[in-house]
Formats: sequence, C-alpha cells, structure tokens
Amino acid sequence: MNDQGQSFTTAVLPFGEEAIAEGARLIRRGLPVAVPTETVYGLAADATDGSAVARVYEAKGRPAFNPLIVHIPDLAAAEAIAEFDPLARSLARRFWPGPLTLVLPGRSDSPIASLASAGLPTVALRVPAHPAMQALLAAAGRPLAAPSANASGRISPTRAEHVLASLGGRIPLIIDAGPTVHGIESTILGVSDGHVRLLRPGPLGEAELGIALTGPGAASIVAPGQMQSHYAPAQPLRLNARTRREGEWLIGFGPIEGDATLSSSGDLVEAAATLFDRLHEAEARSPAAIAVAPVPETGLGNAINDRLRRAAAPRA
Ligand code: TXA
Ligand code: MG
Repeated sequence: MNDQGQSFTTAVLPFGEEAIAEGARLIRRGLPVAVPTETVYGLAADATDGSAVARVYEAKGRPAFNPLIVHIPDLAAAEAIAEFDPLARSLARRFWPGPLTLVLPGRSDSPIASLASAGLPTVALRVPAHPAMQALLAAAGRPLAAPSANASGRISPTRAEHVLASLGGRIPLIIDAGPTVHGIESTILGVSDGHVRLLRPGPLGEAELGIALTGPGAASIVAPGQMQSHYAPAQPLRLNARTRREGEWLIGFGPIEGDATLSSSGDLVEAAATLFDRLHEAEARSPAAIAVAPVPETGLGNAINDRLRRAAAPRA
C-alpha cells in the first residue's frame, strides 16, 4: 500500500450467487465492496473492523472522517448496536427495511468500530430493502458500514457504471444490479429524548414520516437539524508533539512512542482505525493535557490531521 491507497483491478459482477460469495469473501478480508441499495450504491466494509472502515475512507479519498451509516439485516441486529426507545422502535417497525436511517445512542457493548461513527456516542443505522445488500449482509454475517460509493466530492452513484467511473481501480468489486429505485440517499432522523430531528431529507418525506409521529407519546419533527458536532476530548490537545511535556498523555505515531500509539509501524490505515479509541483512552486517563505525535499529510493522514485539528481547536 502506498500514500494513494491500494490499487485494484475492479471486477463488475452481476448480482447473483457468485457476486455475493466473492463480496462476502472480500469483506471478511477487510476490503470494501460496492453494492446497490434501494437508495444509491454503497461502498460496504466490515463495520466491526476499524482497518476495513479506514480503507473505505482511503478508497473514497475523503479528506475528513464523517460518521458512516451502519447497515444491518433487521431490527434485532440493530438493537445489539444502539439503544432504542419506544419512539425509535416504532419508526424502525414502520419503515424498515427501507430508505430510513436512525441516529441513536450507541450501546456500551456495541461491536461497531469507533471510526465508523467517528468517535461519536451515537450511531447511524439502516436496514436496507435491496436484495443485493440484504444478501451481502447475510453472507458476510456482520454489520456493514457503507457511505455512498463515490469518490469524495462526486455525486452519489445510482448505477454500477457511476461507481466504476468514480472508484474504478480503487476497489476490488462492484456488484451490479442495475439502477437504484430512489436515486437519493436515505432520510436521516436523529431520535433522542422522545424527539425526532430531521438530519437529512430523503425519499421519506415529512408527510409519510408524520404518520408514525402522531398518536399518544409521539413527537413532532424538529426542523432540519445541524449535522453532528465533532467528537473532542475534554482536555486540551497539542498537535505535532515530539516529546511529552509535564502532565501530558502522549499519543505516539511511528518512531515517537508515547503512552499509547496510533501505529508503531507508522501505518496510516492502522492509525485511522485506532484514532478515536486512542483519544477516548487518553481522555479517560484524565491527564492535564493530551499531545499527539506528527502524522504525515498524505493519503489517510489528511483525514486524521483534519480530525485532530478539530479536536484541538478552542471550544466554547
Ligand atoms: O442511502 C444512504 O443513506 C446511503 C446508502 C449507501 O445506504 N448511504 C449514505 O451514507 O448516504 P453517507 O456516508 O454518504 O452519509 C452518511 C450521513 C452523513 O451525512 C453523516 O454525517 C450522517 O449520515 N451520520 C452518520 N452517523 C451520524 C451520527 N452519529 N450523527 C449524525 N449524523 C450522522
Ligand atoms: Mg455521500
């Protein structure tokens, strides 16, 4: 692997037994696979494996770690990951499988890699209706983190050809099931304390969603919301630290050892995969301050540094 990420010969296989078996094999090896959902094509990876999730950002060339949607086969699988209150459960029962994503508090014993939810205490979950994504979930046997399968800054793909044009050579497999039904990304609702916030408009409009939101104990939609705030530790964060100052917890990288390390071998995929765990761990040690060794500004290093700079920025 180099700074530009791994290069692949990208296979395009029609949706069927062979494509799903090959897709599941690649997912289990920690590689990303493009697969259609009823909204847009997604770039799916094992959501429980931080390195697999890092390879999704690498393939997309995303300069920042936005939290990803975790896809599961059904509500029971979702309840192993997030806390459902009665309102969230009624939305899930009414609209899953389908083009609805719910942002919910993560369970303390959630198996999802911290990178998939960008270190946030919440997690975005969706049960997709598309038979190809459902077949891949069943064959892989694990939750799949999947953003839209386009390179950063490009429009979302509704056909296998769009994925190939955008990510060809950067991913090993595209499962082709023709054009997607909705063509726009899922509606995202944040549910907390009996309130629903529309975080992203999508195929399910307020009229349809409103049906589920009337009746006893129901809440109204609170205006289109801000996207999530970013995770930042409680302590001040010092970047590009080569040595530990008095009272600091130092997170190392490569030759700079520290109290813990993002990657002792200087591997950016590993560093991305461990970033939020190392920050949460540092915060839990309650040092006076946290310092982080320099991370190179190449490939995934751009996204790592973007997130570190946000975490280091002065806050209110
Ligand atoms: O239709 C879709 O939703 C497609 C298909 C593949 O399922 N996926 C998709 O993923 O659009 P992506 O990564 O392109 O968009 C995920 C959106 C981002 O806007 C992100 O900020 C939001 O979900 N999101 C994810 N986790 C969140 C969280 N914990 N809190 C708030 N927003 C979250
Ligand atoms: Mg997208």
